Amino acid sequence: MRINDNFEKLPESYLFSTVASKLREYRESHPGVDVIRMDIGDVTLPIPQASIKAMHRAVDDMAEKTSFHGYGPEQGYDFLRNAIAVNAYAQRGIEITTDEIFISDGAKSDLGNLGDIYAEGSVVAVANPGYPVYVDSNVIDGRGGTLVDGKWSNFVYLECNEENGFKPVPPAEHADVIFLCSPANPTGVTFTKAELKAWVNYALANNAVIIYDSAYCAYITDPELPHSIYEVEGARECAIEVRSFSKTAGFTGLRCGYTVVPASVCGFDEAGNKVSLRKLWLRRQTTKFNGASYVIQRGAEALYTSDGKIQVRENVGYYLENARLIRETMSKAGFTVFGGDNSPYIWVKSPDGESSWDLFDKLLHEVNISCTPGVGFGSAGEGYIRLTGFNSKSNTEEAMRRIIGFFADKA
Ligand code: MLT
Repeated sequence: MRINDNFEKLPESYLFSTVASKLREYRESHPGVDVIRMDIGDVTLPIPQASIKAMHRAVDDMAEKTSFHGYGPEQGYDFLRNAIAVNAYAQRGIEITTDEIFISDGAKSDLGNLGDIYAEGSVVAVANPGYPVYVDSNVIDGRGGTLVDGKWSNFVYLECNEENGFKPVPPAEHADVIFLCSPANPTGVTFTKAELKAWVNYALANNAVIIYDSAYCAYITDPELPHSIYEVEGARECAIEVRSFSKTAGFTGLRCGYTVVPASVCGFDEAGNKVSLRKLWLRRQTTKFNGASYVIQRGAEALYTSDGKIQVRENVGYYLENARLIRETMSKAGFTVFGGDNSPYIWVKSPDGESSWDLFDKLLHEVNISCTPGVGFGSAGEGYIRLTGFNSKSNTEEAMRRIIGFFADKA
């Protein structure tokens, strides 16, 4: 069998696997050293009680002939799809119907799998820096071209930097598929409605589709900022929205997310006929996916009960408080920082022009904190690191004490 050669073009390992293996090596060679993890965005609080209780009941359902569930609908159970349509959309004045919502085992899978429904030759636009799944999955699908100086020749890079506040703006050139993330991973910055409107206009003018990664929307506290791209007029014609229960409700280990494909979003076939993407995504999911587990979907549904909503708000508030502490401490220590107010991520500029990996090594070896090197999110991330607010409050406080101590000593 001939392999998919695109794998050989990719860097040896996925960003977070590389960070984890460096951390493992350090811990093995420094037993007893307490490293505080502020790298991958993995949660530390347990699952909200409302959800736990619902999952216990769902497990009991599985024990009885009358309530047992075998294969579920590939696109998800209506009880969860309806709860999302009402709570995540209708209550915010957005019209999304149940059959436009597809439940999955998480946003990461959907973001990678969506590549099945657009042509191999599609021009893909990605923010630089951006979540590496957008780039790596499109390279695997054959859309990358060749890697030159950290950039794939066939992608349109949406350069983000201090000057534009790390917010990508529509490019001069054409793209077919655009990945946007807000609040952004890794920079923590959030689009305003006007900024999103510029993207919707670009997509409509280019017959392009926006894949809008909204995994962190629960962290938006500013009432002026949009939670969903569908708050922008025209987005129902050009945008797919991907969301997750991971960062909202601690489902990183349970796995559940969803993708919204409005019936009005279309692509074109070879003959130029309009084709509904919702239809293609349904075909893709029914063919390659057997649905998220019944028990987990019951757990997700319970997040929309009144208790569930309160508990989700508490968890999100806890991480936002950590993010605030990190942002303020890093600023006080003299770092330039972005994000961390409507986002769990804080994007930190290396103080002396050090490379991302050099700062990663310094923090790991001398301060015993692990971070994510910014360059792992794209060439424009060089010279930055990303910290997360997902650790416990006490670990976050300890990490900040270490940072202040170390950098004050150096000053
Ligand atoms: C991150 O740290 O960027 C995320 O946790 C990774 C993910 O959600 O897959």
